[in-house]
Amino acid sequence: MTAMTSTGLAATAPATDHPQQWPVYDGQAVARATDLIRAGRTFDYRHGPEIAEIEQLFSDHLDGRHVLAVNSGTSALLAAYYVLGLGPGDEVLVPSLTFLATASPLFVLGATPVLCDSGSANGNVTVASLAERITSRTRAIAVTHLFGHPCPMAEIAQLARERSLALIEDCSHAHGSTIDGVPVGTFGDLAVFSIGGLKLVSGGMGGVLACRDTRHYDLACLLSSFRQRSNLTVHDPALRRLADVGLGGNLRISPVAAVLASSHMRRLDALVRAKHHNATALVTALSTHPGIEGLGVAAGHTMGGWYDIVLRVDPLRAGFDRDDLVAALKRHGVRAGVPQTAPLHRTSVFTGARPPTWHAYSPATLRRCFTYAPEDLPVSARLHDEWISLPATYFNEPQEDLLGAYRRAAERALSDLAATR
Ligand SMILES: Cc1ncc(COP(=O)(O)O)c(C=O)c1O
Repeated sequence: MTAMTSTGLAATAPATDHPQQWPVYDGQAVARATDLIRAGRTFDYRHGPEIAEIEQLFSDHLDGRHVLAVNSGTSALLAAYYVLGLGPGDEVLVPSLTFLATASPLFVLGATPVLCDSGSANGNVTVASLAERITSRTRAIAVTHLFGHPCPMAEIAQLARERSLALIEDCSHAHGSTIDGVPVGTFGDLAVFSIGGLKLVSGGMGGVLACRDTRHYDLACLLSSFRQRSNLTVHDPALRRLADVGLGGNLRISPVAAVLASSHMRRLDALVRAKHHNATALVTALSTHPGIEGLGVAAGHTMGGWYDIVLRVDPLRAGFDRDDLVAALKRHGVRAGVPQTAPLHRTSVFTGARPPTWHAYSPATLRRCFTYAPEDLPVSARLHDEWISLPATYFNEPQEDLLGAYRRAAERALSDLAATR
């Protein structure tokens, strides 16, 4: 008979016995959310304690930045681009390797995302890969700390200063990642965190915008919440006068989402520690094989969110390719796959699809910025073709049983592959 462990998983259980995946909420979070639902407090037009709490937690984490909680990371990115006044004719440098929402809110404003190649083995953009795409129309740089790997922010911030460009950090994969002890989200003019879906800090649906500049905060607040909230929290009296109508959006977060996200944010350090332990153990277990390696963490950088646990397979050295490894791991119960964050320059609107509502873009812009071939931006494309992803959302908390099962499954998968060479 197999012995049962404290989590109820059998010690020799196949790796297919997975616990509930993230987001997981503790009893106190569930009780707070339930109380709000029972009281009918599922929305907040003012600036109640639950909204103030998640904003304060992020502001404390981000060196006192102004923080606005909204209903998604996508809404936070829309607000960031909106407050910069971006519109038709303006270009924003965006990584090709990011989730689509780093770029897609620009479509709504008629501004143009200019996709940039990866400059680093972890998939991130670098000064060189950004600088080669700057034109006289470039107004801003948006970077994504991909899978939790911080971008080289000192250099990128210097480039932004030298070229008078606004700098936006998309930290949706990187809650708690740091550079020389300083959290990501504090290096740019504006920072965005998704706090929805499978993110390390998740209220189900939610996002956070953090700004250095009070005016940016005020404009974002007016875009997000007309009337009460803007009357309460917009600083500039001239802008506050606009609260009666607002600026055309309703991006408000629910207090239920806010308390759920706050429960994760309060234990961010412990979550990051557990995730780092688990992710490092998984990367180490697989990278014993030649040709398989983790993406590495640069000196002075730490990983926070670990949104995805990604390894690279070099087919020449490994003797098999990424797809062979994914298939072998799956046969042994590991939920391996290919990172969902895939090069944007291979998606519909960047390869010639023309939405009927796109009146803002000239034929020349459509040709130059929305017509990529698969072989363009070759580093991003090659990296993604060689990456496998392990299901990070099971590993946000201590998970020794599943970790052990995954290690054993990895050994078996690798020995199967060796036997077929
Ligand atoms: C890098 C990145 N940015 C933005 C978003 C958008 O966040 P949301 O899903 O909360 O709109 C995501 C979501 O996965 C993301 O991964």
